[in-house]
Amino acid sequence: MPGAGKHKTPMVTKMIELKPEAMVGKGLHRECYVHPDNPNRCIKVVVLRGEEETRREQAYYKFLQKRQITWEMLPQFYGVEPTSIGPGAVFDLVRDANGEVGKTFEYYFESADLTAQNIEGLISALQALKTYLFSQNIITMSIKPKNIIYQRQDEHTGTAVIIDNIGNSDAIPLASYCRTFGKIKMTRKWHKFIALLQKDYPENSLLQAQLANKLVK
Ligand SMILES: Nc1ncnc2c1ncn2[C@@H]1O[C@H](COP(=O)(O)OP(=O)(O)OP(=O)(O)O)[C@@H](O)[C@H]1O
Ligand SMILES: [Mg+2]
Repeated sequence: MPGAGKHKTPMVTKMIELKPEAMVGKGLHRECYVHPDNPNRCIKVVVLRGEEETRREQAYYKFLQKRQITWEMLPQFYGVEPTSIGPGAVFDLVRDANGEVGKTFEYYFESADLTAQNIEGLISALQALKTYLFSQNIITMSIKPKNIIYQRQDEHTGTAVIIDNIGNSDAIPLASYCRTFGKIKMTRKWHKFIALLQKDYPENSLLQAQLANKLVK
């Protein structure tokens, strides 16, 4: 009998069942769920035309893994697992010190009260994020407040974690390989990010004062 005696154990790949109540967020292209086997990881599934972005993101993650960067402000990527609604990309899930899933800077900046209650931490987290991206030469597409989580420690401190839109879509991605080009590109991206905050939250006067004063330029 062909194959007799080989006796292979069949590979069983467990299909992960994603339940609607486990969803923690949804963007234009992807839904994000708490991993049912690990409360500190999330699974992201493309639900609308995001395959190209996903491919670029995963390729860029591989590149960063090879470079052995530090991951203080970027969730680690743990590969792709099959789920009940399609292939799911597994990342660290960002949680605040109190255990709740972290909220985005968009969420904080949309509220004058939340901004005021957390202003010190929000601003220093953004300054630290800028330093981190530049020092590790991490390249991003456009930087947006909906794609950065404020991982709140307490009323004075927290960390900015960038959860989406990293990578480089240039045909010849010099900025990824050469720090000088990386710095030029990221300076431009960062200035655009600040301009976006100025445009999108004109009524958040405390934020605007911080942008005009010390921040982030
Ligand atoms: N690692 C994470 N930790 C906590 N929450 C997350 C994480 N990743 C994503 N989220 C939540 O899920 C939402 C959607 O995720 P994500 O931004 O990756 O989706 P997207 O469809 O690619 O977004 P976009 O609309 O920017 O293209 C986020 O806005 C955030 O609320
Ligand atoms: Mg997003």
